[in-house]
Amino acid sequence: MSLPSPIGLLAELTHRCPLGCPYCSNPIELVRSSGELDTKTWGRVMQEAADLGIMHLHLSGGEPLIRNDLAEIVNAANVAGLYTNLITSAIGLTPQRLTELKSVGLDHVQISIQGVEPLRADTVAHFKGALKTKRDAAKHVVDEGLALTINAVIHRDNIRDLQQIITLARDWGAGRLEVAHVQYHGWALANRASLMPSREEFEVAARIVEDARAKLAGDLVIDHVIPDYYGERPKACMGGWGRQVIVITPDGRALPCHAAASLPGMTFANVKDKSLNEIWESDPAFQKFRGTEWMPKPCKGCERAEVDWGGCRCQAFALAGDAATTDPVCALSPNHAKVAAAIAKEAATEKAAYRFRRIGG
Ligand code: SF4
Ligand code: FES
Repeated sequence: MSLPSPIGLLAELTHRCPLGCPYCSNPIELVRSSGELDTKTWGRVMQEAADLGIMHLHLSGGEPLIRNDLAEIVNAANVAGLYTNLITSAIGLTPQRLTELKSVGLDHVQISIQGVEPLRADTVAHFKGALKTKRDAAKHVVDEGLALTINAVIHRDNIRDLQQIITLARDWGAGRLEVAHVQYHGWALANRASLMPSREEFEVAARIVEDARAKLAGDLVIDHVIPDYYGERPKACMGGWGRQVIVITPDGRALPCHAAASLPGMTFANVKDKSLNEIWESDPAFQKFRGTEWMPKPCKGCERAEVDWGGCRCQAFALAGDAATTDPVCALSPNHAKVAAAIAKEAATEKAAYRFRRIGG
């Protein structure tokens, strides 16, 4: 039986970004502009994605607006029949740029915010005036009639503002709000001790989301990406390794998830050399943790083995030093108690200065 098609393609067009968020999940070793794929190759990748059955294209980074050829890439995706979602900081999203992108088929815009209070939000973004620029851009998106999602990454510095974040998303005209607790990869992992809220803060936040969902049903959709660290079972990272999503890095490597390059001893095919179809069907990296064959106990035979697919491989490596072990955030993992104790201790420590994301470490 042939393999089901992936659902989404996450195209990291560039690692360049005007912001310096310490919670970024990009790798510490960022790709420089000289290594980025050219317009023609991205265009080919878009067609190959559509041929493979992919429906959704997420244009991400870094900041995709930094690419001067973004409209050409969106056009190629549109011609191929992909639904296009621009994931952006909104820095550089002028009315002219937005009109241009809409004219070539852009379907949806997702704007990230760092908080609701300008000084604190701009501090986390490491960019003066960021929040105001985002508010203006959100208005352009709504005025253009494009669908808008607000993405709020939740951490120690803004978790108490969650109610105001929900109000902001409504006021700005979003149809959807993504309340996404930090996922600890790349720069976020390096800043974990400064970003991790306490369990109590998380529990209050979870109740606020549930209340708001009930009150705002039919008005604002709220997605809630919960912090694995405070759960009892992991989520199916990327919907399972090599099952739903392909990530393409700025230099063309095809990954099963955005942090896979952090795993030692793995090599990844490049779209400059191979077609997406070939990579999806037979690249060893995509097969390594696909399905349940690779699983150790307690995942092997577990009733959730085909629900969460053993959790996150990159998290298993980061927390237990072994990508092929059960994700330690699972309470059934032999590493769980040690990891939970370390996290609780970290959340209780005084916040250190952020290490802001930037190219060159
Ligand atoms: Fe998921 Fe493995 Fe935990 Fe079972 S043991 S819930 S499959 S991570
Ligand atoms: Fe790599 Fe979860 S981020 S498997």
